[in-house]
Amino acid sequence: MLPRRAMALALASLALAAMWSPPRLAGGHVTATSAAASLGCRSKSKCVSSHSTTTTTAAASGGSKMESTTAADGLRRSFLDVLLSRRRNLQVPLAVENGRPVKDPMYQGTPPTGRSEAMESCPRKEVENFKEKLVEENFYLITEQLGEQGRLPVLLLKLNDTAPKRKPVIVILHSSYKCKEWLRPLLEAYASRGYISVAIDSRYHGERASSNTTYIDALKSAWRNGDTMPFIFDTVWDLIKLGDHLSEREDVDPCRIGITGESLGGMHAWFAAFLDTRYSVVVPIIGIQGFRWAIDNNKWQARVDSIKPLFEEARIDLGKSEIDTEVVQKVWDKIAPGLDSQFDAPFSVPMIAPRPMLLLNGAEDPRCPVSGLKEPVSRAAKAYEEVGSADKFKFIAEPGIGHQMTINMVKEASDWFDRFL
Ligand SMILES: *[C@@H]1O[C@H](CO)[C@@H](O)[C@H](O)[C@H]1NC(C)=O
Ligand SMILES: *[C@@H]1O[C@H](CO)[C@@H](O)[C@H](O)[C@H]1NC(C)=O
Repeated sequence: MLPRRAMALALASLALAAMWSPPRLAGGHVTATSAAASLGCRSKSKCVSSHSTTTTTAAASGGSKMESTTAADGLRRSFLDVLLSRRRNLQVPLAVENGRPVKDPMYQGTPPTGRSEAMESCPRKEVENFKEKLVEENFYLITEQLGEQGRLPVLLLKLNDTAPKRKPVIVILHSSYKCKEWLRPLLEAYASRGYISVAIDSRYHGERASSNTTYIDALKSAWRNGDTMPFIFDTVWDLIKLGDHLSEREDVDPCRIGITGESLGGMHAWFAAFLDTRYSVVVPIIGIQGFRWAIDNNKWQARVDSIKPLFEEARIDLGKSEIDTEVVQKVWDKIAPGLDSQFDAPFSVPMIAPRPMLLLNGAEDPRCPVSGLKEPVSRAAKAYEEVGSADKFKFIAEPGIGHQMTINMVKEASDWFDRFL
């Protein structure tokens, strides 16, 4: 067993590394590395990924930009090392298992009452007999050897076309305590317009939760034991595996995989796109924030409140009378190493360039304060300008809006995908 596992691990890390290893420049032409081709990263040979485009542009125009590409690769490798650090012995080949529609979706915390106006507002195309033409797939991807949490539940919708051709994909990610079924109105709207739309249950959510405290319990357990990364990072691992699956599907155009999400889902979209350049158009909604900025400026309270019992537990363990900056910092270090330092927004967000990225936030959002976004946004704008792609980056802070995805944001996201994907 051991050699096989070791082999799987080596292959997986190589395959991951291969995704962003700088393509060799031969006589001015970009060629995919043989490693990428032989390790099943087939999409690489089918499309010049945006990442290779960066390298080409940078190489063509000289030294300093080449360095920044290398810096991006280095940061991605460091992030991958962090993800691998708690799953060295858990590697399995990617496998697919059949699933079934979920009849009674799990909402932790207060279940949503009624429908979401914003969610319902996404532009749709009138399709005759839409319900009959809609193809629904429910399946699981085995992403690591970890029981329930190593099984990624996926819901995929698309139109049954008479002329089958490869379609663009939109991956849509849910917010804290919700689940993939919550996103159905958005999934259907994109499907009506010819996209394949995909939602997943994040770690400890939806089908991966057994009670309404599963997510909070997992966060507390990570704080105590330091063996998992239930806040953002473990789900990013799943999203890389989802990228593997999607780029191998016959109905998918592997060069056109977009990613978006709301709140926690926006954070997932941000970190997955930073790490995995196959996500080619990126729209994080009310997810981008400066974790370090919040600590340095005493503005972490609203973020902490969204998963308060975790920080209460840490406060007690640290013998403090109230949650303070030190508690916050220690929790991030333990459950999401680097989140408030090397992988924070000012460093990871610009590295999504030059892939088209729209950042949508509320100007009055206490969980993602816009003052904390000045640095990441200006650095990102500079990164896009440097590669001649200034038009592919946009930041919108909607006036008068708190931590809420609005009708306007849904429309902006939808337009962005139509324009760039
Ligand atoms: C979880 O469910 C139990 C029993 O259904 C309920 O009493 C409790 O209030 C719920 N807790 C939360 C955080 O929603
Ligand atoms: C798609 O439509 C065709 C023709 O109506 C039908 O035969 C086929 O079963 C449908 N496929 C799916 C996956 O629903």
